[in-house]
Amino acid sequence: MPEQRDWYDTPLYYDIIFDADTPKEGAFLDALHERFGRRGKSRQMLEPACGSGRLVLEMARRGWKVSGFDGNARMLEFAEERLKQECLKARLWEDWMQSFKLPGVQSFDFAHSLVSTFKYLIAEKDAVACLQRVAAALKPGAIFALGVHLTDYTQTNEDHERWVAERDGIHVTCNTHTWPADRKKRLEDIRTRLTIRDNGRGHVQETRWQFRTYNATQMRALLCKVPAFELLACYDFTYDIESQRELDDSYSDVVMVLKKGTD
Ligand SMILES: C[S@@+](CC[C@H](N)C(=O)[O-])C[C@H]1O[C@@H](n2cnc3c(N)ncnc32)[C@H](O)[C@@H]1O
Repeated sequence: MPEQRDWYDTPLYYDIIFDADTPKEGAFLDALHERFGRRGKSRQMLEPACGSGRLVLEMARRGWKVSGFDGNARMLEFAEERLKQECLKARLWEDWMQSFKLPGVQSFDFAHSLVSTFKYLIAEKDAVACLQRVAAALKPGAIFALGVHLTDYTQTNEDHERWVAERDGIHVTCNTHTWPADRKKRLEDIRTRLTIRDNGRGHVQETRWQFRTYNATQMRALLCKVPAFELLACYDFTYDIESQRELDDSYSDVVMVLKKGTD
């Protein structure tokens, strides 16, 4: 039987699995800022729910002054350690997306949240509160890049994704199952199983959780509740700055570019 464990309590394994795309995401975020962002030399960046800090590190390497928070203290400790190893600095603290307070810098030039993290906010009021807080934290004209997986409610089969990665002799396989969404409750059940081979020793751990679901119409309805943001552009997870998309249900992974109004 796999051990039941919150996979964010084992940040190293999370980081090993999801680090492969980090440089590509970092380059894409810079390209978004260049194309849609606020003009000026200031480079204050906010990452809500920054996790193991893979993007905190990447954006700090790219010259951003990064602030980030997460609800999981172990993820933050891991992020701090990685920053220390590279002699980089960021302001990190423990906090929640729906109610965070800014301990230092009060206004940012750019914010981002990728890989569906926003969908951990199960209640609509928390999703709205998070967007409002991020908008309040941004300078006028600054952007928030928000990446989520959109739900196809006609899907009746389980979805399965598999990632494999290795670092320093630690081999991690991640199998994620997503069950068909409950349209009425706006929830989907997800199970992640990590199979770890750490220097010859094997181990399997499993995490179950729920995400709030959105199709394109539901996402538009949410954005209407936060008029401080204007939807400027959409992309898919190929992270190609030249390939803009519409916010519609013809694809599932969307990065929305939300601009804070200048009024
Ligand atoms: C998929 S990871 C994403 C981490 C990071 N943004 C990245 O791109 O790698 C999701 C993170 O969200 C955090 N999290 C989940 N719900 C949260 C909440 N309501 N407030 C703050 N952090 C939360 C988890 O602890 C975890 O570190």
